[in-house]
Amino acid sequence: MINIAVLGYGTIGSGVVEVLKLNGDSICKRAGDRINVKYVLDIRDFPGNPIMEILVHDVNIILNDPDVKIVVEVMGGTEPAYTYVKEALLRGKSVVTSNKELVAKYGAELIDIAKERNTNFLFEASVGGGIPIIRPLNQSLTADEIVEITGILNGTTNYILTKMAEEGIDFETALKNAQSLGYAERDPSADVEGYDSCRKIAILSSLAYGMQVDYEDIYTEGISKITDTDIKYAKALGARIKLFATSIREDDDSVYAMVAPVMIRANHPLYSVNDVFNGIFVRGNVIGDVMFYGSGAGKLPTASAVVADVVDCAKHFNRNIWTIWSSKKLELTDINKVKH
Ligand code: HSE
Repeated sequence: MINIAVLGYGTIGSGVVEVLKLNGDSICKRAGDRINVKYVLDIRDFPGNPIMEILVHDVNIILNDPDVKIVVEVMGGTEPAYTYVKEALLRGKSVVTSNKELVAKYGAELIDIAKERNTNFLFEASVGGGIPIIRPLNQSLTADEIVEITGILNGTTNYILTKMAEEGIDFETALKNAQSLGYAERDPSADVEGYDSCRKIAILSSLAYGMQVDYEDIYTEGISKITDTDIKYAKALGARIKLFATSIREDDDSVYAMVAPVMIRANHPLYSVNDVFNGIFVRGNVIGDVMFYGSGAGKLPTASAVVADVVDCAKHFNRNIWTIWSSKKLELTDINKVKH
């Protein structure tokens, strides 16, 4: 039996517990042993919920328990997530997270600690919800130089834009629906203003180019200035408005990245990525173009990616899954100076 602890019993944390229960037998075959949730950490209580039997309020119970081999961090935010994750890694535990803020800010450092300790820090669910994109970049597209990543990386804004265009729903109502479906961030301005997409393209770029791409350096514009009139004009032109996150490596190895709303027509590969779905287009110098598509947010899709990482950790105890993301900073080209 492999004991794990889940930090945070919100949308994703409860999804992780549910997925492990639902698919326990097949996950056991794939991991080589049964995955047992020994503890759930949360500051809240959940009266009447069977989770109370394993609920703890003190992280030290988890950190001090040598039986806990894998820690799943799904609390979100950088603190106390960073402190808990770092401490777990330093104590030789593997860590899985869905937390893009944590990964974008501290990914290089936490990856290094995991390497030193011969353990793993995995974060498939931090980008694209349930879509496998971190593992393909890290383990499959390794023969290529990645020259472009362009994605619709935020499910909430894509849902809002889709509902405004197709059902004539106003922005506020569409956002409320996205929140009630568990897609939006606790502070939805992270979705709407593009910060969530920005962190995600920073993570993908860092992995693809092997250097630290700071999200603060990425030009970021969200969808809050998009009006009903913009949506109507796009429709009249046979186009759709999408929030793109793009990172491009030029022939001289310079890189520029940005998050901004764009208008695209039906011949664009991301045109049909609607509702909460995410689509990610990756161009390699050898493979050419590859597309990834799937549910970009939500409880079970995101939990699916988290649990897949838990399985990967279980298959690689005492062996680090190598990642080329180093802490050396990649200076991005100012997008105002990009010539096309
Ligand atoms: N708020 C995020 C989104 C959740 O809407 O895409 C998944 O990262």
